[in-house]
Amino acid sequence: MRRVTTIAALRQDLAAERRHGHTVALVPTLGALHDGHLANVRIAAGLADVVVVSIFVNPTQFDRPDDLAAYPRTLAADEAALRALGEHTPAYVFVPEEREMYPRPPRTTVHVSGITEVLEGASRAGHFDGVATVVTKLFNIVQPDVAVFGRKDFQQNVVIRRFVEDLDQPVRLVFTPTVREDDGLARSSRNQRLDADGRATAAAIPRALRAAVSAARRARAEGRAPDPVRVREAALATLTGGPDLDVDYVEVVDPDTLAPPDAPRGEEAGGTSTEPTSAPGPSRRLLVAVAAFVGDVRLIDNVEIGDPDDEERLLAATEPTATPHD
Ligand code: PAF
Repeated sequence: MRRVTTIAALRQDLAAERRHGHTVALVPTLGALHDGHLANVRIAAGLADVVVVSIFVNPTQFDRPDDLAAYPRTLAADEAALRALGEHTPAYVFVPEEREMYPRPPRTTVHVSGITEVLEGASRAGHFDGVATVVTKLFNIVQPDVAVFGRKDFQQNVVIRRFVEDLDQPVRLVFTPTVREDDGLARSSRNQRLDADGRATAAAIPRALRAAVSAARRARAEGRAPDPVRVREAALATLTGGPDLDVDYVEVVDPDTLAPPDAPRGEEAGGTSTEPTSAPGPSRRLLVAVAAFVGDVRLIDNVEIGDPDDEERLLAATEPTATPHD
């Protein structure tokens, strides 16, 4: 594994790879690598000849200076974890300094309208402009054939898919299942900042998603379409039952448009259809998205109801509870 810190050097190395006919996969990260990232690197290794992992704590996507300052920076451990992947160790780890990525204050940003204004976008001003811009820069620098992202950042993935399509960026996107701890908590670099109590409290988040899936399954078992309102209530009741957890939002939206499930599809379908975004049959797809603070650590998670694999993975990773919502 070669550590590269400049754009010019990485471009030179990757040009040589391409001259040898090698395809390139990119796994963009903020560092503080956990099993979810490492799973993505293994998947990427199966998708291209050469894998590049980028590690860059991108300041422009943080809305709070304290959050940026507190973000864990663990480069030595990250590189050791990548080396320990053995045959799946990436060929390159790209670790630019901030001045390499932003040599002067940028005047250009990639802004995706609408879908960036809800959920995370409503809570974190400017976050998705920062993400869309840095991911576009990374795509321009690496020019990957394929890029791999985790499903935990569901909205981020919807945004990335949209600007890649809108801007004709020539990259295949692969979104991978969320990797969870034994109690179901989604792996996140931010989990490192939780103490033992916070860690136990945070497990309420996947339990809430489990309650949402259970509510949807009960509806389906009775031949009904899952009702977004009831699904949300099931999740919320589980979340607000525990101590020390400050719910930012629990939303149930259409997974493609991130709009309320009964909103007209309209522009998102490329027309003026008044069909609801998510047709209310038993196989209706609904994204349940949660954001909550445990102390000052903000955690997000989601499950896609109507996606049998995602539902199963969530249920397999969480214990049934004795609540009426399970
Ligand atoms: O998901 C992340 O880790 C970041 O948002 C990304 C995609 C690396 C951009 O900085």
